[in-house]
Amino acid sequence: MIEFQDVVKQYNTQTAIDDISFTIGEAEVCVLIGPSGCGKTTSLKLINRMLEPSSGAVLLNGKPVGSFNPEQLRRGIGYVIQSVGLLPHMNVAENVGIVPRLLKWERSRREKRTDELLDLIGLDPGLYRGKYPAQLSGGEAQRIGVARALAADPPVLLMDEPFGAVDPLNREILQLEFAVLQRKLRKTVVFVTHDLDEAIRLADTVVIMKDGRIVQQGQPADILAHPADNFVRQFVGADRALKRLACFQVVDHMQSAETIPREQTAKRQQAPNGDGGQHPVLWVTNADHALVGMLEPDPDHHSAVAYRPYVELHADEVGVRPVASLREALSRILGQGLRAAPVISEEGMVLGEVRLSDIEELNQRGIAR
Ligand SMILES: Nc1ncnc2c1ncn2[C@@H]1O[C@H](COP(=O)(O)OP(=O)(O)OP(=O)(O)O)[C@@H](O)[C@H]1O
Ligand SMILES: [Mg+2]
Repeated sequence: MIEFQDVVKQYNTQTAIDDISFTIGEAEVCVLIGPSGCGKTTSLKLINRMLEPSSGAVLLNGKPVGSFNPEQLRRGIGYVIQSVGLLPHMNVAENVGIVPRLLKWERSRREKRTDELLDLIGLDPGLYRGKYPAQLSGGEAQRIGVARALAADPPVLLMDEPFGAVDPLNREILQLEFAVLQRKLRKTVVFVTHDLDEAIRLADTVVIMKDGRIVQQGQPADILAHPADNFVRQFVGADRALKRLACFQVVDHMQSAETIPREQTAKRQQAPNGDGGQHPVLWVTNADHALVGMLEPDPDHHSAVAYRPYVELHADEVGVRPVASLREALSRILGQGLRAAPVISEEGMVLGEVRLSDIEELNQRGIAR
């Protein structure tokens, strides 16, 4: 879809991009990350011809972007610029409608599209279309910036630190919204960030840059497992094993779980300890099959009974959803002092469990020292 071929970009004597080559597949989210000044924004601008390379070429669908008329090219490429860039004298509807207006869509079509996009990004059109940028929170302004880039439904989206200006909590909300949106829209996205956790959360592939060069590219989990050099090792941090767990979903690492109805707990708990403490956790459910407690195996091999006394549990506190990451599962497991976390459906039913031993094994297998 997008390909950089031996691209060099010089500003006068300074080399901002120093011979980079990489490819971004269709419907892929490629995250460019690296220290300030390493050439991320420059790389984006080479894609939509806001800048021309000094040598090499950027291809879009196999054709050099230099062969397209710049205006036509940009219609197919939405751009969310660094620091939002909403025009202060225009209201939300006018800001979102900039590209459709340039494309001379008639008014009713523009208005319909604006309302559709506001719905899409979770802002009530009736409430927001007439607001001015100064009347928006930071997170709302970021969402409008994304809506504006999506206005003409371009297949390619360039996003330059789109959530950089919001506080960490709201940034996480925007990231989750973006992930959901992208599953629906399936754009080819080039996303620039400073934030490694953001990259891990959103990227199909990560390109790590330094001084205008690519130092490593690949899937987040592979980069965290095998940093190419000391720069990447330092960049991803000493807790890369933990960060890597954020790349895996609970649903892919779930084991079957044993459940028993509440009435049977007394009998099961008193059962003799036949095989020396090698029992699974028994998740206890009520008449609606919702998790209400557990019997944990007694680790004392000499104990007469297999399980410790019944413990009441709150599904919200101990359970994880199938879509959660293994990092979340681990924090539940450690937070509760358990050996596994139950995987819970929206209705509170036990779908399976994630075991601490499986998480440990996944790390031991994947991580290079
Ligand atoms: N118009 C320009 N003229 C001269 N040098 C420039 C120009 N724009 C950028 N540069 C230089 O090119 C290098 C790369 O800049 P770029 O904006 O691509 O960095 P970046 O990775 O986006 O940084 P940041 O994370 O701070 O946004 C920097 O050293 C910058 O000073
Ligand atoms: Mg930049």
